[in-house]
Amino acid sequence: MSIEQTLTSQERLAELDVDQLRQLVGLVEHDPTADPFPVVGWDAVMWIVGNATQTAQMFQLVYGMELVAYSGPETGNRDHHAYVLRSGAVRFVVKGGVDPASPLLDHHRRHGDGVADVALEVPDVDRCIAHARANGAVVLEEPHDLTDEHGTVRVAALAAYGDTRHTLVDRSRYSGPYLPGYVERRSVLGRPKRLFQALDHVVGNVELGRMDEWVEFYRRVMGFTNMAEFVGDDIATEYSALMSKVVASGNHRVKFPLNEPAAGRKRSQIDEYLDFYCGPGVQHLALATNDIVAAVDALRARGVEFLATPDAYYEDPELRARIGAVRVPIEELQKRGILVDRDEDGYLLQIFTKPLGDRPTVFFELIERHGSLGFGKGNFKALFEAIEREQAKRGNLD
Ligand SMILES: [Fe+2]
Repeated sequence: MSIEQTLTSQERLAELDVDQLRQLVGLVEHDPTADPFPVVGWDAVMWIVGNATQTAQMFQLVYGMELVAYSGPETGNRDHHAYVLRSGAVRFVVKGGVDPASPLLDHHRRHGDGVADVALEVPDVDRCIAHARANGAVVLEEPHDLTDEHGTVRVAALAAYGDTRHTLVDRSRYSGPYLPGYVERRSVLGRPKRLFQALDHVVGNVELGRMDEWVEFYRRVMGFTNMAEFVGDDIATEYSALMSKVVASGNHRVKFPLNEPAAGRKRSQIDEYLDFYCGPGVQHLALATNDIVAAVDALRARGVEFLATPDAYYEDPELRARIGAVRVPIEELQKRGILVDRDEDGYLLQIFTKPLGDRPTVFFELIERHGSLGFGKGNFKALFEAIEREQAKRGNLD
């Protein structure tokens, strides 16, 4: 199977090609025939929120996403509303309970707004589940078919950290707008902006001492491999304390950094997350863009708040020497608080939003890659200081 054939249906729909994906998300060549758990790519990020109707409007009006499908009481789903939105190859499914007895409302009572499911597109659901089960994974949903007039989708689900799950989807025999049970629904809220084109990575926060266990889970159960980036206690002891390792699928399309709190001078930002999410969960989603400056300007104009970066960051001669020449003048980055990191492969530009919901939990990163396959390790110090300032304002830094 060549790499061209392994574009996800969303990527084909977004008219992305392999070269663009190589630049956007650091896609690499991979032979799926030797992979025990072949993954084509991201299928969808499923959110459970307190008000899906308004969150779906917000993702359209603020983040420029396009509404493509819907499920709810009018379509025979009396339990909840679900809105399917896309931007480039990124697909969000936003769900909120309608029936007072909906289990989604219990999830929301415990966790607040958050990501409940990071669904992956795979070519063979049964093979993946058999491999996962043989390696000790908890199978939440056995493989089964969902069928409507657009064809058949085969799905199953695995338990991941906390209440997070990974639904596995084979949609190679399906042409509908999302899944059986959903109907096509188009935006009436202005034109989609496509401010971001692909999902780069999804970060999980887990409890103290559990990071290596989850790294091992993704290695053993899903055949993922460790990426080089590792953040240890050299940074953790002085600043907001965390440890981080990254695992990735064979083609690097799916990348999961995993954080755990570490002992430091102050309470870890990861501890704050774990307290407010009531356990492990998705900390941030990195959205890949090919114009981070335009994306930040558009989002800020619609009210999105980003973490501030101290001027000292840009004026530090060591940083200037390390990052060298980038496509945007440093002054333009400084005006917007966009961070830069460089490694042996190239550089990346990145910025982080404040938490999306009422609790200090999930947030977005925007990332523009220029060769670098990293995650901004060089920015952790500056980033931690910025996050700590916000944490202190909330009274959670002691
Ligand atoms: Fe990130």
